Amino acid sequence: MKGVGKFGEVMAGEKGKVSYDALAERLEKIIRSGSRRQAITDFVCRELRKIPHYTWVGIYGVDGTDLILTSWSGPAATQHTRIPVGQGICGAAVAEKETVIVPDVNADPRYLQCFLNTRSEIVVPILKEGIPVAEIDIDSDQLDAFATRDKEFLGWVAEELAAIL
Ligand code: SME
Repeated sequence: MKGVGKFGEVMAGEKGKVSYDALAERLEKIIRSGSRRQAITDFVCRELRKIPHYTWVGIYGVDGTDLILTSWSGPAATQHTRIPVGQGICGAAVAEKETVIVPDVNADPRYLQCFLNTRSEIVVPILKEGIPVAEIDIDSDQLDAFATRDKEFLGWVAEELAAIL
């Protein structure tokens, strides 16, 4: 599936205007550049955070029964740098091998709190031949911030990353 030219819309917010397509183009270029994995995942987190409602963006790698934070971009560091696969929204996405959207984190008993301002969260697993190898975790300060477009866009990013992780 090709993402560039597919996600069209421009989002506007306090971070300025962001075109999903322009972003997809930059992401595709760097992910397929042959650069070091760490440089790529760092770049992906920084780029994704330009989307106005993406407050904190992280990529966790699956390491046995734990998730290990490998890259992040946001206003603050999280204490949850290692999460057992059975815990949190992050653990649920890996266990279910499905994207998990939590519109109101305070109403979800699985939620592990990182930041007081977080209101909603999306976690997208990165699957390689059906096996989760990593995941993209995004926190938003807005309630119910994540819609189908985010799920589709981030699903595309996860597929691109699966090829190099
Ligand atoms: N909220 C996540 C933990 C990771 S932080 O959001 C960075 C969870 O419930 O798994």
